[in-house]
Amino acid sequence: MTGRERILAALNHQPVDVLPVWMMRQAGRYLPGYQALRARHSFMQMVSSVDLSTEITVEPVDTLGVDAAIVFHDILIPFELLGLELDFIEGVGPVLAPPIRTAADVARLGAFACDDELVVVQTLKSVREKLGEQTAVLGFAGAPLTLATYAVEGRSDKKRPHFRAMLRDDPDTLIAIMNLLAPVIAAYLAQQARHADAVQLFESHADLLPREDYERLALPALRETIRIFRELDPDTPLLLFAQGMRNIAPCVRDLAVNGFSIDQHLPLCEAVECLCPGPGPGRPVLQGNFDPQKLCATANGVVQDAESFLRAGAEALGHPPGTGLPTGWIVNLGHGITPKTPPASALAFVETVHAFSNP
Ligand code: CP3
Repeated sequence: MTGRERILAALNHQPVDVLPVWMMRQAGRYLPGYQALRARHSFMQMVSSVDLSTEITVEPVDTLGVDAAIVFHDILIPFELLGLELDFIEGVGPVLAPPIRTAADVARLGAFACDDELVVVQTLKSVREKLGEQTAVLGFAGAPLTLATYAVEGRSDKKRPHFRAMLRDDPDTLIAIMNLLAPVIAAYLAQQARHADAVQLFESHADLLPREDYERLALPALRETIRIFRELDPDTPLLLFAQGMRNIAPCVRDLAVNGFSIDQHLPLCEAVECLCPGPGPGRPVLQGNFDPQKLCATANGVVQDAESFLRAGAEALGHPPGTGLPTGWIVNLGHGITPKTPPASALAFVETVHAFSNP
């Protein structure tokens, strides 16, 4: 099977020859080709160029043999389309200006134009041309809460003072921001989905709110995003990643997504219980969740860790040793690959997944 066939089979609970695998943030700073380009270009230059973005997207496919290519871009770029200024500053991280902190700020946001000319869409097309049918191609966007935290804060701050203040004093404005983002994200995803095999929503801050608050404040806009996306594109598989899936699992399990990408803090055996009500095609596809920190070990260490992770995962999905490969599982990391990962260890991970036959 080709990588693309494996990913599509897993998304449809069909049998696979070997388990499909890709890694979140696989197109990034740990790769020598990325580093060489990054030495000559700013991050914003790279995400603004179809040629550079295509080259970066394809590097992990060529050098690691992953089954899917996720388009090189960023969840924060759509804010530019809404009229905000976005920059990534060395040592500071992303900066959005002006931040959105009041109802008047929300009202000022520009109309969002979304068409095939977007760099991300052009890059998806160009990646497909380059990879042909061999590899699955994935698009993505941020979920409303995750994007709102960046918009409110304006810059990375682990304490998130402005977001906390808004949560306490003015939750209606937070809701207004997420409601404004929902149709934007849905249209942006649907535009990508025209040229992608699947798309993924990143809810990277799902652990920021207690579950009840998540359900009350953030879930409605997430549900609306998915509803509109489904209206625009009934067919392209949609995955939901959450950092903090354990926290939100009970309230997202009934969303109209095809699968859940889980972080490493929710073991697959527990994910099956809290996200998948029954066996067989009724359960959603699961993606994940090898601890990215473990990829920083030597290649030999990664092989051993990956083998025990794969055995445990197969068993959690109903395939104890000797019973073959489970369906409906796309192997991935629990969060993004870190910049200090040795490429040889990332390669060892991909090769170990592809060699695994559940003996
Ligand atoms: O997965 C991939 O390889 C595709 C590309 C991709 C990037 N960002 C490229 C990137 C994807 C899918 C993202 C998603 C993203 N961006 C998320 C959700 C996933 C997650 O990690 O939780 C978030 C929260 C962001 C926002 C973001 N982008 C931050 C906070 C930062 C700065 C911190 C950091 O990791 O550097 C970025 C920058 C960024 N996005 C880089 C890359 C390769 C590094 C830029 C550089 O070269 O300095």
